[in-house]
Amino acid sequence: MRKSLVAANWKMLGRFADIAPYMAQLRLSDRADVVLFPSALHLQAAVLAAPDGLKCGVQDVGTSHGGAHTGEISADMVVEMGGSWCIVGHSERRIDQGETDDLVATKASAALKSGLLPIVCVGETLAEREAGHAETTVHRQLAAVLDRVDRSALSRIVVGYEPVWAIGTGESASADQAQEMHGFIRSQLDAMDPVAARLIRIVYGGSVTPDNASELFAQDDIDGGLVGGASLDARAFSAIVDAVPVGVA
Ligand code: 13P
Repeated sequence: MRKSLVAANWKMLGRFADIAPYMAQLRLSDRADVVLFPSALHLQAAVLAAPDGLKCGVQDVGTSHGGAHTGEISADMVVEMGGSWCIVGHSERRIDQGETDDLVATKASAALKSGLLPIVCVGETLAEREAGHAETTVHRQLAAVLDRVDRSALSRIVVGYEPVWAIGTGESASADQAQEMHGFIRSQLDAMDPVAARLIRIVYGGSVTPDNASELFAQDDIDGGLVGGASLDARAFSAIVDAVPVGVA
C-alpha cells in the first residue's frame, strides 16, 4: 500500500564533479522510490545525469511563487529545472535559519501548489526528549503543516522524523524508539484523515547507515529513510536502498 522512499540529503556537501561518478555507481531498487537532494545549485546537473527512476529535489524552497525576494528559489523554478521533490523544515534550517513552524507550513503549502512533493521534517532535540516533550514537539511541528495544507493534497506529503540528537552523531534512534514515534505520528495523521494516514509515508532520518537500515526499515510505520552522511557515498547509499524489505505493504 505504501511504497518505501529512500532519500539522500547531501546538505551543503557534494561537488559538481562528484555527480557523474555517483550516478554511475548508484543502484536503485524497484522496492523503493529514491530521491536525491543535492544543493540547489547542482539540481540541474543531477537531473540531467540521473538514471531512470531516480528523482531529484531541493533541500529548501521559497514561500512565494515569484517576486522581489532576493536569494530565494520558488517551487515553480524547481519544477522548471526538473526537480520533483523538496525538503521543508529540516532541523538544520529550523536551528540555523530560525525557521518557525508557521514558515515551514507556508513552504509545504507553496510546494504542493506548484506540484512539488514535500518531505516535511519534524523532530525533537535531546533536551526536549530528556524533558519528556518529544511527542509534544513533534505533534506541534506536524500540526502546523497539517492545518495549512489543502486536505486534497494531504496524502502527497511525506513526513520525515529526524530526532535532532541522532543527526550526524552516529547515534541513530533505536528501531523501537523510531517506531514508537512513527506510530505516534501515524495516529496524529489518522485523527485528521484516516484514509490519508494509511497512504502517507513516514521516513526516518538520523545516522542511518547500511548497518542499521534493515532493522529500521522493517518497522511497521517506518516507510524508508532520509539519509545524510552515508548518502554521499554511492555504494553506502545503494546498500541502504537495498535494505528496503521485500513486500512492504
Ligand atoms: P545523517 O544521516 O548524517 O545523520 O543526517 C540525517 C539528516 O539530517 C538527513 O536529512
